[in-house]
Amino acid sequence: MIELQQVSKTFHKKNGGVTALDNVSFTVGKGNIFGVIGASGAGKSTLIRCVNLLERPGSGKVIVDGKNLPDLSSSELARSRREMGMIFQHFNLLSSRTVYENIALPLELDKTPVSQIKTRVDELLALVGLEEKRNDFPSNLSGGQKQRVAIARALAARPKILLCDEATSALDPATTSSILSLLKNINRKFGITILLITHEMDVIKAICDEVAVISDGKLIEKGRVGDIFSNPSSPVTREFITSSHDVAVPFELEQVLTESSNGTDYPLVKLRFTGKLNAGTVFSETSRLFEVDNEIVAANMDYAQGIKFGVILILVKGTQENVQQAIEYYKSNNIQTEVLGYV
Ligand SMILES: Nc1ncnc2c1ncn2[C@@H]1O[C@H](COP(=O)(O)OP(=O)(O)OP(=O)(O)O)[C@@H](O)[C@H]1O
Ligand SMILES: [Mg+2]
Repeated sequence: MIELQQVSKTFHKKNGGVTALDNVSFTVGKGNIFGVIGASGAGKSTLIRCVNLLERPGSGKVIVDGKNLPDLSSSELARSRREMGMIFQHFNLLSSRTVYENIALPLELDKTPVSQIKTRVDELLALVGLEEKRNDFPSNLSGGQKQRVAIARALAARPKILLCDEATSALDPATTSSILSLLKNINRKFGITILLITHEMDVIKAICDEVAVISDGKLIEKGRVGDIFSNPSSPVTREFITSSHDVAVPFELEQVLTESSNGTDYPLVKLRFTGKLNAGTVFSETSRLFEVDNEIVAANMDYAQGIKFGVILILVKGTQENVQQAIEYYKSNNIQTEVLGYV
């Protein structure tokens, strides 16, 4: 549905150029939700703007529905753009228009007959759950409601693709989650292909089928979300996963934690499960093999595409030798293992 081939973009400034995109290639299949994650300045906005040619790539192909957009005439491009809706972090609603009028705008611009506009806007208001707010102005809406209006407006002309530029970054966690559910619902119901960019791994985990990671304008990793979460290959990706999933050492333990062992205390160990391993099984194996007792202190486990991952803090209790063997066993099973101290 969307294919980027070796897309590069350099912004030229007086004192040199900034390479915002460097040879980026990926394909988004029809009906998929594809997420691009990257830190601030990584090139995410530039990337998504290249997909509808709000930004022209310096080189490379942007193929949407079989057509390379940079090759199109302006009228052909306008037609292709109609197949793509877009939503933004700050909603970009017109403050002088009501909710109804904001949603109707793209249809008015398309010269759709008034009666058809009414039917379509009513449908969209119901879809995003804002029938009651039809005559309100944006200034009277919450952030989540504004984003719902923006989504309805983006869908008005029945696009095949929805582009989302940090669509939930200005929203609190509960509202973020309701907007993400709405996007997923729209994707399932209408088969719309969604390309979204974000700096939050939680967004990727919640709704994406596939993810690409960009850093300094380069695509450094891509794949199915479950695979990336269970087996991240680059440090940048690992850092994104870690930042969305960590556990703190409980205050009481922190107070008594020592840096080195006195021989009779137990290590506090942080285990990061990103594989297909079952933590329970691994714990019973070490108990059986090395006669240790794994006391779970804190845990933060989650699912992405049916794959469990997360972090568990344990006190490994047993003789010093057995405890050491258990720790080696964790490491040899590809579990990221870190001894935080001794209690
Ligand atoms: N119009 C522009 N002119 C000059 N430089 C630009 C322009 N747009 C972006 N850049 C530069 O390109 C790089 C990538 O910017 P971009 O906005 O794509 O990053 P981003 O990943 O969206 O960041 P953020 O998460 O902060 O929104 C940055 O170094 C930025 O300063
Ligand atoms: Mg941006």
